[in-house]
Amino acid sequence: MCGIVGCVLKNDKVAPILLDSISKLEYRGYDSIGLATACDGKINLKKDAGKIDEVNSKLNFAEMPGNYGIAHVRWATHGDPSKENSHPHLNSAGTIAVVHNGIIENYLAIKEDLISEGYEFKSDTDTEVIPHLLDKFMKEGLDLEKAVRKVIGVIEGAYALAAICTDEPNKVVATRKDSPLIVGIGEDEYFVASDSPAILKYTNNIAYLDKGDIVILTEDGVTFKDENDKVIKKEIDVLDWSPEMAEKEGYDHFMIKEINEQDVAIRNTLGEKKKIKAIVDDVKGTINRVVFVACGTSYHASLTGKYLIESLVGIPTEVLLASEFKYSAKALNDQTLVIFISQSGETADTLKALDAANEVSKTLAIVNVRGSSATRRADYVIQTQAGPEIGVAATKTYVSQLIAIYLFSALLADDEELLKRLEKVPDYIDEVLKKQGIIREISHLYKRDKDAFFIGRGFSYPIALEGALKLKEISYIHAEGYAAGELKHGPIALIDEHIPVVVVAPPGEDYKKIMSNLQEVKARGADILGIGAKGDKDLIDESDNVFLINPEVDDILAPLVYIVPLQLLSYHVSVIRKLDPDKPKNLAKCVTVE
Ligand code: AGP
Repeated sequence: MCGIVGCVLKNDKVAPILLDSISKLEYRGYDSIGLATACDGKINLKKDAGKIDEVNSKLNFAEMPGNYGIAHVRWATHGDPSKENSHPHLNSAGTIAVVHNGIIENYLAIKEDLISEGYEFKSDTDTEVIPHLLDKFMKEGLDLEKAVRKVIGVIEGAYALAAICTDEPNKVVATRKDSPLIVGIGEDEYFVASDSPAILKYTNNIAYLDKGDIVILTEDGVTFKDENDKVIKKEIDVLDWSPEMAEKEGYDHFMIKEINEQDVAIRNTLGEKKKIKAIVDDVKGTINRVVFVACGTSYHASLTGKYLIESLVGIPTEVLLASEFKYSAKALNDQTLVIFISQSGETADTLKALDAANEVSKTLAIVNVRGSSATRRADYVIQTQAGPEIGVAATKTYVSQLIAIYLFSALLADDEELLKRLEKVPDYIDEVLKKQGIIREISHLYKRDKDAFFIGRGFSYPIALEGALKLKEISYIHAEGYAAGELKHGPIALIDEHIPVVVVAPPGEDYKKIMSNLQEVKARGADILGIGAKGDKDLIDESDNVFLINPEVDDILAPLVYIVPLQLLSYHVSVIRKLDPDKPKNLAKCVTVE
């Protein structure tokens, strides 16, 4: 939901660095881009609608002069993607520039007041009220920092923002509430950014802003102030991520690179076992109910968590969509453990639910992004070790969430055998990745389809849901994930020879039943893609196409491994359809609005 960067350099030109950094945030929004730099008492502004490469080839951002500035990539909320609505936004005199991520809920009332005072607006955005408010407060005698402080007392909603002003050269002032913003402290180069991949090339020293903190970047360093305007010291987190982790490294897209990193992501997250054990020891015996809360792909990981905890531990477990959480919040108590799953740790719906749950229950967040809001608000945190994920489609963060849930559940159940079996999962994924050419071939058969069904039972039901979500978000093919037993209660009416059905059929207690469901759709003419175990003769005979997996991966381990061919399917269908799998239309990696 928009990405922002701000930077002050001691001796260098800032525009090439701003351009490079903001390009690393394109996963957060890609309908427009803009930069503002300043020098000689003048703000230079270039911005337009379009993807970064297209706009840059027209505007050549790198040639902009100045050693400090701000940059923005947009995912439109207020006003269509257009030059006027692109950030940065300026005050009328062109002396103040602002970039913003989030939503200002009371902008209409502020805008009316400002118009009645003679301020003129050029865009349909909520953001444009900020440079005009700063202009007004600076005319009242405040400096930029004090004016920003006053602005955050006026605006309501979720935001991270950064501002520059020609009256106060070589300075960026930034603040946040509910939208992410990190601070990067390099040598003679200081940054604010929505996420760390933007600045990994320049520094690994990161500080995290709390709600209402203000940070002032100058040529000489960084000053932090808390919400009470007191100068504070921040702990510096030295990230062990390398700049290459945020590069494609020879792959065509981030998504396929990240799919291929899943064995490593799982291996690294298995390394969190000791820390997870400490959390389990703390909650064991104190809870009689578990509630998972999440959105999208993280919701599918949560569904697997329900199957695991109920079958291994016997504690009643529910899964709620974060956006629907408030309707069930009253049923929580202090014996409920509420587990929040989010790769970004910044999803607005999930954070809202986390705040509500914190009031009554113990909360645990399973999060990939270090220092993100969820990690700072939950009672317990499990940090997945997937590394930065840039592709909008969650892949390696999903399997990392899953392995964290498996570890948590197996430790809660004292299930040593399962814990041992988990160690082999990276090898099973590796075996699938070695055969990815088969899925690439199969993908050609699905490139013209308009609809598809994915079916599974038990542990394979969330695999079907996630396989369908991947296909629709990356390939724009309408896809439905269904519990296989539910198909005959309605949706089977849609099945005919034009509908492919992906049948997830690992070995295990549901195998015979899923094979009967396969027969039901086959009898209606469906084209079957079977995903099952190597040597499964029945599946091979009954399917039009198959992808076969190591038979040691039974139904319980299937969510961790059987999802990989389905991710590959959606990736290749997307590429064959000449789409951009890293930047699917209308989506953003981090959804910071409710
Ligand atoms: C994943 O492919 C999706 N883009 C999306 O459903 C995502 O999982 C969802 O928005 C939740 O994000 P989070 O894990 O960062 O909270």
